[in-house]
Amino acid sequence: MIRNSQWDLGISFVGCGSAMPHKVITNDQLGQRVDTNDEWIKSRTGIGERRVIGENESLIELATEAAFDAIKMADWDVKTIDLIILATSTPEDLFGSAPKIQSNLGASNAVAFDLTAACSGFLFALVTASQYLGSGAMKRAVVIGADQLSKWVDWDDRKTCVLFGDGAGAVAIESSENESGLVGYDLKSDGSKGGCLNLSQSNIFLDLVQGVTHQKGEYLPIQMEGKEVYKFAVKEVPIILGELLDKYQINSECIDWLLLHQANQRILDAVASRFSIPSEKVLSNLRHYGNTSAATIPLMLDEAVRDQRIKSGDLIACSGFGAGLSWGAALFYWHGPH
Ligand code: ACO
Repeated sequence: MIRNSQWDLGISFVGCGSAMPHKVITNDQLGQRVDTNDEWIKSRTGIGERRVIGENESLIELATEAAFDAIKMADWDVKTIDLIILATSTPEDLFGSAPKIQSNLGASNAVAFDLTAACSGFLFALVTASQYLGSGAMKRAVVIGADQLSKWVDWDDRKTCVLFGDGAGAVAIESSENESGLVGYDLKSDGSKGGCLNLSQSNIFLDLVQGVTHQKGEYLPIQMEGKEVYKFAVKEVPIILGELLDKYQINSECIDWLLLHQANQRILDAVASRFSIPSEKVLSNLRHYGNTSAATIPLMLDEAVRDQRIKSGDLIACSGFGAGLSWGAALFYWHGPH
């Protein structure tokens, strides 16, 4: 394995988990609400159905369950966890939802905070947690990606509502003297193109006192220029992944799994073809869940680890991309429980 030279310690991926809402909405059901159909959605995106958080469910509960599964797989005592990062753009509390998850888990020695980078959020959070572990400042971290975009989608806008779903996934990572699971990473932002994809606050100002107004706390539904986001993804993801492979002198043939943010099957196929990665090595569960934003990568990882496609020692090429605009890539070896 290739050692990441930036750190004193290596990072080992030892657990994963996921949790999904119960309610499934099929393409045909969406077609009863907006002018769309199963054939259009499947052929343009690969999505067949998505799940949406309903009554008696919550994002914090799903995130807690996903984290709990990852901790269980890692066989950790919760009291030994140092750090919990929740990547989300849809917290239940704008002050942060991670502390509630920490308390649900009983991880009383962990510091917990939210991190927002839209669909790149999980990757950004993974790299952030790795800094603490690699430097030796902390030993064990749980990184969660969880989103409830169904709250913020305009369900009457067929251009966006067909794409998104809710869900949560998590990984358990720890610092390691012997192993180096995270080979390398790169993260990028380009705020100048941020207008392509927004969940921005509304511009409503209300009278406060005589001569003073204040801005009402309220958000508009997701706005997206789909074609621009598509072009951005198929251009930038191959560049960032290619640079990473070059940097660590890894031939794309050595990649066991391509694990991309699950936004659109056509994006997955285009990136895979750029590296001549055969379709059997491209992980996709878009058909069942759609784009669950920060959750897609750990959710897909968990599915492929639990059905034993991903085995200990497999090299995974991972990339996330989305609003911001933001994007990133990481090369890592899955280790699994000791
Ligand atoms: N059903 C039927 N027809 C539709 C639908 C729909 N759901 N949506 C759009 N159309 C129509 C359009 O109105 C248009 O019709 P027109 O030609 O008569 O005007 C036609 O289909 C083509 O529309 P396009 O927008 O050009 O379709 P495109 O092939 O670009 O596919 C899509 C749209 C699927 C959104 C694609 O652009 C895409 O996947 N983009 C990337 C989006 C993405 O990944 N976003 C998430 C980023 S992650 C994050 O940070 C949240």
